[in-house]
Amino acid sequence: MPTSVTLRICEELRRILSPERYEHCQGVMNLATQLAQKYGGDPEKAALAGILHDIARELSPDQLLAEARRHRIPVDPLEEKSPILLHGKIGALHARLDWGVDDPEVLEAIALHITADSHMSLTAQLIFLADFAEPGRSFGSARFARELSYINLGSALEYVLNQEIIFVLNQGFLLHPKTLAARNRLLLEGTLNP
Ligand SMILES: [Fe+2]
Ligand SMILES: [Fe+2]
Repeated sequence: MPTSVTLRICEELRRILSPERYEHCQGVMNLATQLAQKYGGDPEKAALAGILHDIARELSPDQLLAEARRHRIPVDPLEEKSPILLHGKIGALHARLDWGVDDPEVLEAIALHITADSHMSLTAQLIFLADFAEPGRSFGSARFARELSYINLGSALEYVLNQEIIFVLNQGFLLHPKTLAARNRLLLEGTLNP
């Protein structure tokens, strides 16, 4: 269950984010919390990372790049080309500076929710999965990922990574190496755990 801190953040975010974005963040929070309970994670961390994961999603590409430069956050060539990829790292920065979040697992989950990575905490895995599969996502692959997430975490993560990679390739977008590294490690070692 969300703590009083998380509930207070929810109230503030409701005023800051667009209604659609806020609803999505709530969906991610709720699904990630349920999955944390199922898979032995920390429901409070999942709730906090879930509600905050897209706090920087409504910044413009120029704002994201400017924030990264101002705070000396490394920007890789893919992020330079598609600054929207930075909303995870900048979101983690805002969570720390503006919302007082100091838990490294929560900050990592926010930072990695777009690309995933080969090594991720359970909280980060759950946020990546819930971002794709939360109930507000009505497309068929999201529904399937949601059903799978209640049955087998590894299979659900593999499915979502595959869907993300297929989408990126079909759209002609750049594929982030971290996403590929996550899929390969999951297939080779059966886990993304650190
Ligand atoms: Fe996002
Ligand atoms: Fe999201």
